[in-house]
Amino acid sequence: MKAYIVEKWCEPEEMVYSDIPEPVPGEDEILIDVKSAGVNFPDILIIQGKYQARPKRPFTPGTEVAGVIQAMGKNVKGFAIGDRVSAITWIGGYAEKVCVNPLYTFPIPPKMSFEEAAGFHVIYQSSYFGIVERAHLRPTETLLVHAGAGGIGTSSIQIGKAIGAKVYATAGSEEKLEITKRCGADLSLNYTDTLWSKKIRKEHGGADVVIDPVGGEILEKSILCTNFEGRIVIVGFTSGKIAQVASNLLLLNNIGLLGLFWNLYVQNHPAKIHEAVKQLNEWYNQGKLSPVIYKTYDLKDAPTALRDVTSRKSYGKAILKIA
Ligand SMILES: NC(=O)c1ccc[n+]([C@@H]2O[C@H](COP(=O)([O-])OP(=O)(O)OC[C@H]3O[C@@H](n4cnc5c(N)ncnc54)[C@H](OP(=O)(O)O)[C@@H]3O)[C@@H](O)[C@H]2O)c1
Repeated sequence: MKAYIVEKWCEPEEMVYSDIPEPVPGEDEILIDVKSAGVNFPDILIIQGKYQARPKRPFTPGTEVAGVIQAMGKNVKGFAIGDRVSAITWIGGYAEKVCVNPLYTFPIPPKMSFEEAAGFHVIYQSSYFGIVERAHLRPTETLLVHAGAGGIGTSSIQIGKAIGAKVYATAGSEEKLEITKRCGADLSLNYTDTLWSKKIRKEHGGADVVIDPVGGEILEKSILCTNFEGRIVIVGFTSGKIAQVASNLLLLNNIGLLGLFWNLYVQNHPAKIHEAVKQLNEWYNQGKLSPVIYKTYDLKDAPTALRDVTSRKSYGKAILKIA
């Protein structure tokens, strides 16, 4: 089968597109015939060896997949060969076949395509855990989503609207602001305009919950437009900068600064992951969530997809389509 292999920490273009033997599922594993794989911002960090967790080399990158069950170990219950499933893989997704843990394998809702399903775990679940589990967003509140056209951004806007909240979004270009509006944002602001935070505070009533995948100055300015008892969730650092937070401002307005590391829920609280999948599938079936797919790429074009994601070119989700 075809798969990308990382032999040494490297740039995406240096991964090796290889022909390797098909994996054989262990007694507790499921073998998926992969139809689509999600491309995620952290994948490039994993390939470069810059991510918090470093897999043993050689390995195939790829955190999430969707496909059809081809074979199963004898201890696997509750699934059948031929089932349409998606799975959280951690590694292994950039391949034609992958063995996965049944605990992190989920039936795909009938109306959901393989492309949508392959991008439905990392970003939607991270956004869900940030908004629901960490910040406890209420329907009467206002959610502010930064980088609103990105993967975390588009999913957070949709989840905020599914909860019934008012949603404000920021993004860095007119094209991306349009994406945030299509996702349901009630107000979209370009955060290259240095006055965005002031405008939200003075003209639009401020924000109660902030989802921030950007970091740096964007986080610092978010504190200025966060309301009494507001919660700011740190999701990522796409700006490459770690914010220097004025803790006195947090104190003065009873603001909570919260961290989110979704991986820890996956590793330590799988029951919560299943609860999240149930709720997200329900919202999807009700038409409240609609994954935004930027582009589908052939498996061999994974390096281009990764560059498009990390160079700010893409919006929503980049997906690999496996022949
Ligand atoms: N904490 C967790 O558990 C968790 C889970 C998943 C993802 N993440 C992290 O969340 C972040 C966002 O992930 P994502 O899937 O939403 O990524 P994405 O789809 O690539 O979106 C990131 C957005 O960040 C904005 N951005 C601002 N400054 C940037 C810069 N210097 N370089 C690149 N982008 C920049 C861009 O929007 P504009 O062009 O509009 O500015 C871009 O669309 C990543 O850091 C990822 O690692 C964290």
